[in-house]
Amino acid sequence: MALRLGDLAPNFTAQTTEGPIDFHQWLGNSWGVLFSHPADYTPVCTTELGAVAKIRAEFDKRNVKAIAVSVDPLDSHHGWIKDINETQATNMNFPIIADEKREVATAYDMIHPNADDKATVRSVFVIGPDKKIKLTLTYPASTGRNFMEILRVIDSLQLTANHKVATPANWRHGEDCIVTPAVSDADAQKLFPKGVRKIKPYLRYTPQPNL
Ligand code: BEZ
Repeated sequence: MALRLGDLAPNFTAQTTEGPIDFHQWLGNSWGVLFSHPADYTPVCTTELGAVAKIRAEFDKRNVKAIAVSVDPLDSHHGWIKDINETQATNMNFPIIADEKREVATAYDMIHPNADDKATVRSVFVIGPDKKIKLTLTYPASTGRNFMEILRVIDSLQLTANHKVATPANWRHGEDCIVTPAVSDADAQKLFPKGVRKIKPYLRYTPQPNL
């Protein structure tokens, strides 16, 4: 069955380009981004892995570890990394899982047979420090992902995990947030000393509380 938000992210052991891992141990107290790609030595995937390597500092700043997975073997991954570094002007700095037996792909339902019965689709799982799934995304092979969007979502997830706010459409770090409906007006005044702007009883904005 497909994994849902709030489910425990399945643990696994695997060979990666940075050595063998036990996934939960490897995550430790960090947040995680586990993302699959259809195959090594393919153009869109090459740009995606290069894009993630380039924003490693942004993941570090947010205490997030990134890890990629495909059903190709380790020697293929190592050869491909040379191409990624060369063509994307970067240095790969996060592991790629070699999931030849499709154990990870199966546990995370990353093979969608009506799209492709062999390769993984472009799945993204954001996993919290409690090892629970906080966000899932699924893209087809033909569409590369926007990793700035994934950072934006992580900013929202980390903020809303600790404050009684939600983030509106197209929100970016630093912009006003929405007071969650369960908070009364009286409590909102106490919780958000920077002020609450009430547009409708159910639509109340406050400056981002953790800045
Ligand atoms: C790609 O990464 O370029 C790709 C992979 C599978 C199908 C189509 C594109």
